[in-house]
Order: sequence, then C-alpha cells, then structure tokens
Amino acid sequence: MKKFTIFALIACVALTSACGPKDPGLKDAYKNYFKIGVAVTERNVTDSLQAALILKEFNSITAENCMKPGEIHPQAGVWNFEKADIIANFCREHGIKMRGHNLVWHSQFATWMFTKHDKNGNPVVELDEKGDTVWVERPSFGRFPGFGGGNPPAGFPGFGGQRPGGQRPGAPAMQTTKTPKYVAASKEEFYDSLKVHINTVVNRYKDVIYCWDVVNEAMSDANNPDAPYEDSFRKSQAYQLCGDEFIKNAFIWAHEADPNAGLFYNDYSAWTPAKRTYIYNMVKKLQAEGAPITGIGMQGHYNIFDNPTLEDFETAINMYLELVDDIQITEFDIRINEEAGGGLQFSRGEGQVYTEEIQKQQEKKYADLFEIMRKYKKNISCVTFWNLSDRDSWLGANNYPLLFDSEYQRKPVYYTVRDFKKNK
Ligand code: GLA
Repeated sequence: MKKFTIFALIACVALTSACGPKDPGLKDAYKNYFKIGVAVTERNVTDSLQAALILKEFNSITAENCMKPGEIHPQAGVWNFEKADIIANFCREHGIKMRGHNLVWHSQFATWMFTKHDKNGNPVVELDEKGDTVWVERPSFGRFPGFGGGNPPAGFPGFGGQRPGGQRPGAPAMQTTKTPKYVAASKEEFYDSLKVHINTVVNRYKDVIYCWDVVNEAMSDANNPDAPYEDSFRKSQAYQLCGDEFIKNAFIWAHEADPNAGLFYNDYSAWTPAKRTYIYNMVKKLQAEGAPITGIGMQGHYNIFDNPTLEDFETAINMYLELVDDIQITEFDIRINEEAGGGLQFSRGEGQVYTEEIQKQQEKKYADLFEIMRKYKKNISCVTFWNLSDRDSWLGANNYPLLFDSEYQRKPVYYTVRDFKKNK
C-alpha cells in the first residue's frame, strides 16, 4: 500500500511536470506567451480569498489608483504612500512584479504642480493693486463615492476630461465656492515639481516595478487621422504649458530614476486609425529627440462589437512595432454594450442582461483578440485585466466585462481564454 502511494505520488509529479498543473491558472496557461496581469486595490490584496485568486491566476500587478500622481502626491510635499505600499509589499512578499501606473496624466493628477509655491511649499496667492487677495468662484462637488475624496473623478467635464455628456448619475450636485486665485507656475516650476515626483515614486518602488506608464492619454480624441501634429494632442494643462516637451522630459526623468524599467506611453482607443497615427507620430518624433520610450500600452476597454475591429487591432500592433519592441495590453476588459474607450460617462449597465447569446459574443471577442496577441508573443510582454472581478470593475458589475463574476468565480469566458489549446 505504502509502495503504491509512493508510486502514485512519483507518477503524479512526473505527469504534472510533463503536462503542467491539472488546473492551471491563467499565468500558467500563458507562460510561453506573456504575463497575465490584473489591476487591484489594496482591498483586493488584503482579503484572503481574493489574494489567493490573484496569486493563482496572475503574475503582474497594477495598482488601480493609488500610484496616480493625484493620489500619491496630492499636495506639494504631501505623500500618501500607504495604499501603494500595501500593494507593493504584497508583491514583494510573493515575488510578483508590478507595472507602475502612472507618472503623468491629465486626470487624477497632482494639479497643484500648476500653481506657484513659495519656499515653504505654500501656494502663492494673487494680490490686486491694493495688496488684497483676488478671489474666484470655482465649481465644487460633494464627496464622490469611490474616488477617494471631493475631487471629481477622471475625465469629469471641465477638468481636462475628454468625456462628453452630462453629470454622472448619482453624482453630487455642483455648487460654487469662492477660493483665492493662485499664481500659475511657470514651465520651469512645473518641471521642478514633476521631476521630484517622478524621481521619488520611481525610486521608492524600483525593486518591485518592472515598467511604468510614464505618460497616460496625452493624445486627442479628434477622430481625424490627417490632423496636423499640434492638433493630435489633448489640450491638457501640461500640454498648454509645455507642448509635447513634457512627454519627452517625463520619459528622460523616469529613465534617470530607473534605467532598467520599461517605459511606456499608454492610451485608450490606441487601435483606431486616428489615435494610432497620433501615437505613432508622437513616439517617433520624441524618440528622435531623445525620449527613451521603450513600450506602447494599448489600454483595452473594448466591447463585444466592433471596438476594436480585429484588423485595426493588428494594424496598430504592427505600426507600434516599427517604433518599440514591447507592447502591452494594459487595461483589458470587454463590456457588453456599445460603449468603449476611456470615457467615464458610461452607463453602469443597469438593466443589462447577460444572455447566452451575449456571453457567446463576448467569448468570441476574447478568443479572437487573444489569438492575435498570442501571434505577437515575441513582442507582447503582458496582458493586464482592468480589475479582478465583475464586482470590482470600474464599469460596474452589470457590464460583465471580466473573466470572474461578482462572487469571484470563473465565468465560462475564463475557460475560453485559459483553455485556448483545447478550444481550437
Ligand atoms: C483610464 C486610466 C485608468 C483608469 C481607467 C478607468 O483608462 O488609465 O487608470 O482610471 O481609465 O478606471
């Protein structure tokens, strides 16, 4: 009996090493292709069941929000490292590498950098001829649920957002408050703050972060591939102050802080003829000027219909490979309605039904996109899902965009993605 057990054990070990584990995680199924990543919050990694799921399935981790400039560095000299440290320490403890997200973005940004500060780090108030404070009326909001404070979330209209449409349902009503008018920072002052920011954050996590989204979403949504170069940029505060130079400088400073990190330009709708042309032209020009851009991140945020078309998706990959060797899908999810891209003015799927037909369509879309990505395995280093389960999705559970359901159980589409060999 004893002999039999030992024999069975040896046979089992031999079989497992020959054929891989019986129930491989996504990262195991894709080990000869690319890393499989996930965007998480500190809550995901501190819940034991969710942490176990992350460790089973993924081998690259992105912090969903807490490393963004506005979160980690909300005021001059004020650093909120706590949440980012929780995620980084989880990764250190388990030997998982992270993608850093992000160093410069028009949204959830450290907008204090655009204000002049005195030697003590206080914003400089504008005075009138009599030496009195100049006041301005600004729109203000109540607390935004889920966005960590009173600031409007990413892309909220009027805050540099590209997202058209009205106020998000359920958002607090807009009021106005009187605040002092501050003196604007010069370009050099902005650069001083940005350089300190990049240097501090990159250095703090360089043992665990293997690549950074250095600049996020700098290109315009004008859907015209023939637009002149200047019109291809989002007219963000950084662009208005510095033109495209801030992008180049951010890459140079990130490289100085960690010469070993992959440095990505990251954007949504990066497959469309217009956006991919803008990105291509910008990366090519700035590389020629010395920007160490080593990778391009295609965010994802797709839908089950024609966003993206498979042809456009592949064309974009091929265009980018003329400029960089490394491409990642950085924020993958496939929602079940017609919406797509980076906008926050989306429906959260209220009332949507995940019918069998829709599930099949979603499975096909995941299968088709993964098939193309596997074809480019030499140059695609990681595919990151944007959130762990449908419950965590920024799109709301009723958009059903991910591979795990709201109870953290594998959906049928999980097996479509994992068992691609069998499904052929
Ligand atoms: C963009 C950003 C992400 C995230 C999503 C929405 O794609 O790059 O960090 O904010 O929007 O959740």
